[in-house]
Amino acid sequence: MKLDDSFLTLFPEEDKVYEVLLSTKSNFTPIGVRRQGRVLKFRIFEGRSFRDLEECNYAIIQVVDDTELLAGLAYNLDVKFDVTQGIKVPIRRIEGYPWVEGEVKCRIVKVKDSIGESIAKDCTLTPIYIGIEKRVPRPISRADNVLLELAVLGTRLIVKKKRGLQIKDVAQKIEELYELYRKLGGKSEIAGKIMDILRKHYL
Ligand SMILES: Cc1cc2nc3c(=O)[nH]c(=O)nc-3n(C[C@H](O)[C@H](O)[C@H](O)COP(=O)(O)O)c2cc1C
Repeated sequence: MKLDDSFLTLFPEEDKVYEVLLSTKSNFTPIGVRRQGRVLKFRIFEGRSFRDLEECNYAIIQVVDDTELLAGLAYNLDVKFDVTQGIKVPIRRIEGYPWVEGEVKCRIVKVKDSIGESIAKDCTLTPIYIGIEKRVPRPISRADNVLLELAVLGTRLIVKKKRGLQIKDVAQKIEELYELYRKLGGKSEIAGKIMDILRKHYL
């Protein structure tokens, strides 16, 4: 398949936010990306990946259907996976998932939202190489979807707490989502560990 065809296969809908894995010089982290034409756009807040992109403007974005892996990496939990080197860029990727190697250009932006004022980078990844891996897809699970939402809210709660902002509402939402996750049969150890981390912030 040609680069363009593979790219459209991986990210079929323009502007829809897809949750993917970003690999930079020294870090793996989940991010939301949107395809716009032949590039991927994302916003990264201050942290390790943000700093990595200052030192090296190559990255790999992977389509991963394992919510626990994505959520676990956001909380730096000890999740197990095999890594291998990219083909055209000096960046590692996780084995077994399709990947897009690319060059990243970013500009610094000031963002004002419900978690206060932050510095972020608005980035554009232009694909250089795409690798397709065929694997049996995981069935769609509401429990996984709920865990993804909980994990995102949790990262916001942590920032709010650090900034001394009110976290009662988001903490309540997180508890509701965890209850729903459990009702839907979710019982992963990673979800439990994420809840332990989050509850330390608000209990
Ligand atoms: C599903 C999911 C999507 C996320 N998307 C983003 C994103 O688009 N941009 C961002 O800055 N952080 C995002 N986060 C939060 C980061 O993963 C989290 O803050 C992480 O620790 C980033 O810090 P690091 O670069 O130091 O690893 C997301 C978290 C989850 C669970």
